Amino acid sequence: QGMDAPAHVLVFPWPLQGHINCMLHLTAALLDAGFRVTFLHTEHNLSRLARAALPPGLRLLSVPDGLPDDHPRSVRSLKELTESMFTTGSAAYRALLLSLRSDSDAPPLTCVIADGIMPFAVDIAEELGVPALAFRTASACSYLAYLSVPTLVELGEVPFPADDPVRGVPGMEGFLRRRDLPRGVGRSEDGAFDPMLLAIAEGIAHAGKARALILNTAASMEGPALARIAPHMRDLFAIGPLHAEHDAAASLWSEDDSCMAWLDGHGDRSVVYVSLGSLAVISHEQFTEFLAGLVATGYAFLWVLRPDMVKTTGSVLREAVKEAGSKARVVEWAPQRGVLRHRAVGCFLTHGGWNSTLEAAAEGVPMVCWPFFADQQINSRFVGAVWRTGLDMKDLCNRAIVQGKVREAMESGELRGRAHAMAQQLKLDVAVGGSSSSDLERLVGFIRELRA
Ligand code: UDX
Repeated sequence: QGMDAPAHVLVFPWPLQGHINCMLHLTAALLDAGFRVTFLHTEHNLSRLARAALPPGLRLLSVPDGLPDDHPRSVRSLKELTESMFTTGSAAYRALLLSLRSDSDAPPLTCVIADGIMPFAVDIAEELGVPALAFRTASACSYLAYLSVPTLVELGEVPFPADDPVRGVPGMEGFLRRRDLPRGVGRSEDGAFDPMLLAIAEGIAHAGKARALILNTAASMEGPALARIAPHMRDLFAIGPLHAEHDAAASLWSEDDSCMAWLDGHGDRSVVYVSLGSLAVISHEQFTEFLAGLVATGYAFLWVLRPDMVKTTGSVLREAVKEAGSKARVVEWAPQRGVLRHRAVGCFLTHGGWNSTLEAAAEGVPMVCWPFFADQQINSRFVGAVWRTGLDMKDLCNRAIVQGKVREAMESGELRGRAHAMAQQLKLDVAVGGSSSSDLERLVGFIRELRA
């Protein structure tokens, strides 16, 4: 490959919102470094995406995800999506890599950066002679917990719901409880062992086979976990929070920008922003408890209620919110990073997804976490007990808890002070000379080297 042709990277996210967003931020960073980037969506997502905000110069390609177009891509169908991506999706990906060999529109691929949740994407690329790096979109603390699953099983520290201290995740013995461990789809209230967990953990450890693992985190937030992960990887890059320097997200839902003008009409730090991310679903009872708790705080609130989030139809929910008082604003999808940057937002009631956690951290907004599944359980423990930039509701959801935690997050100077300090530190991390910025530079060099 001629050294004058730019490096060409194929970026392949898992086809869900939280994965697409941060891999688009990564893409923007690679484009800034002068690379060619091809971004691989599923056909279904490509047809849903708002393309306006995509970085210029980005090439989009797609593979089928294997599900019928009208099939929901929700948390309830994650298992089906996984199965079809690992069969139909992976076969189409292999064919695509082969066809790119004789592609006259772009230089040959230098490497693939594949979502670390898809081991096949790494294996197939390497098999076809294309170097593959793995990118995990979640936190380093959750990564380490998944890596520790075999030990956790051996020690009998799963199943989860319990206050018992966990000894099986190195470096977290002092504060991690079983309730804080990552878990599979759905909230297993009965504590039954989730067989999916072993499969997920195995898939995650697979990144050790890739040329390197890239994490969207900063050493200042997760240094100890990063140090424990590094020996399992061929190389490790901690380059987050990516959106702070390269915001290039694209939504699968249409953003309701009208809430920005609504925020403009409110005083500084007087509004609670409520969003449970792209996958969480809640029961009608949980909706009612959240609503009553929020109303009882007396604060105005902006609430993201996705159309697929509560079984009850949207109009019934909106009516319930309207009846509860005029201080509420409901949207189906918000321009979240803009909302969190807005001076009117005082705290963030969130599920603790890793993107949301980083977005709040970068703006210094205190959080109240109600984790739904996967990495969110351990993220929220770090928010509440390690960084202490917010409060963790964990598995409890009733109006008194919502009211109490939200009030405290809105009013505590200590929480706000720590959140603010973390935001300051993260600004340094992503600025030239900072740890994340240096690791990004090292990553760019690493990819250039692959061409040689
Ligand atoms: C889940 C995981 O928990 C997360 O850690 C993992 O990396 C991806 O899968 P998700 O439920 O999508 O993620 O939450 P989160 O990681 O917070 O991502 C949601 C994204 O959607 C964020 O970038 C957020 O800014 C955006 N968003 C959310 C909006 O733009 N508008 C909204 O109204 C809500």
